[in-house]
Amino acid sequence: MQEIIKAIEEASIEIKELIETGDTGKSDQENSTGDTQLKLDIASDIIIERIFKQLPTVKAIVSEEQEDIINLNENGEYLIAYDPLDGSSLVDVNLSVGSIYGIYKNEFNAKNIVASVYVVFGPRVEMVVAIDDVKMYRLKHGKFEFIQNIVLKQKGNLKAPGSTQSAWAPHHKQMVDDIFNDGYRLRYSGGMVPDLHQILLKGGGLFSYPGTTDKPKGKLRQLFEVFPFALAYEKAGGGAIDGHKRLLEVETTHIHDTSPCFFGSNEEIKRVLEVYKAHG
Ligand code: AHG
Ligand code: MN
Ligand code: MN
Ligand code: MN
Repeated sequence: MQEIIKAIEEASIEIKELIETGDTGKSDQENSTGDTQLKLDIASDIIIERIFKQLPTVKAIVSEEQEDIINLNENGEYLIAYDPLDGSSLVDVNLSVGSIYGIYKNEFNAKNIVASVYVVFGPRVEMVVAIDDVKMYRLKHGKFEFIQNIVLKQKGNLKAPGSTQSAWAPHHKQMVDDIFNDGYRLRYSGGMVPDLHQILLKGGGLFSYPGTTDKPKGKLRQLFEVFPFALAYEKAGGGAIDGHKRLLEVETTHIHDTSPCFFGSNEEIKRVLEVYKAHG
């Protein structure tokens, strides 16, 4: 595991340089989810693939930006699913973005996730590693330095409600409005990595990306985005659900499957469960 984390650190130093100096324009390709890939998505994907290919411990990799699994070492212990540059369309307006990695054993599915890592590229570069607990590191003078453990409070005061509001179910809209009445403050940048990082560090709240009328299974991808953050939130003492059950119990049938998702401190997650239970 340690060599995978080292590899992620190495990739992140290259991706930081790419973000700072690369072309933010579109490529002429689409990924399997139908997103037009930016040149930055493709370039960061190439960096990560090159670095993981050097590790004997990696059995297979799969990227949000590629169609299929790439098999590497037959005897490798780990499978890694990653989103090379989440929120890449925010780079041109200089908002924070991130990379997300889910580390699995045996098979790419929620019950086999053993660790997750995300890296936030903002004014600072920070890496958060969830295994048994959640540890944050910061890039300083070319090296990642341990900063703190992350533990969520039981109840927070931030909310980050994602997706197109006009396509929200009425009970979802009501829940987001009610939470607003309880004094929660809106903190949504459109990049799940900094949005979820803020909730983790500022002690709690609720991030939601629900199923909608046009996309009943939401937008966020299970292997690359949803399960890695589900592990981080659970290990930090909070919760991660699809509205009805733990995300880490959701079955994956295809590597690019998506899922509605809610991440938060325990009080907020309890509230989502109550609202969604009452509305099927
Ligand atoms: P991508 O990996 O294609 O850049 O997706 C970004 C994600 C996530 O970061 C964010 O929460 C969500 O898309 C924003 O989507 P909406 O604009 O629909 O809210
Ligand atoms: Mn994309
Ligand atoms: Mn993404
Ligand atoms: Mn992406």
